Amino acid sequence: MYICVCNPFTDKDLDSALKDDTVKNNASAVYKACSGGEKPCCGTCICEIRERINAHNAEAMLLAAE
Ligand code: FES
Repeated sequence: MYICVCNPFTDKDLDSALKDDTVKNNASAVYKACSGGEKPCCGTCICEIRERINAHNAEAMLLAAE
């Protein structure tokens, strides 16, 4: 599924970027990692990226608590 259509990348690209500790908590850095260094155009996808970052972090916290 495409997350961004302006500088096209998919949910799989996003999942890969979220595995990178250097970018995973910063929406702008995640976007650049997924888009090959491009900046967002319309910004429509940023909410989805932030939601996925939050979900990823919540899941990581649950796993760490076990
Ligand atoms: S959909 Fe991602 S910047 Fe437009």
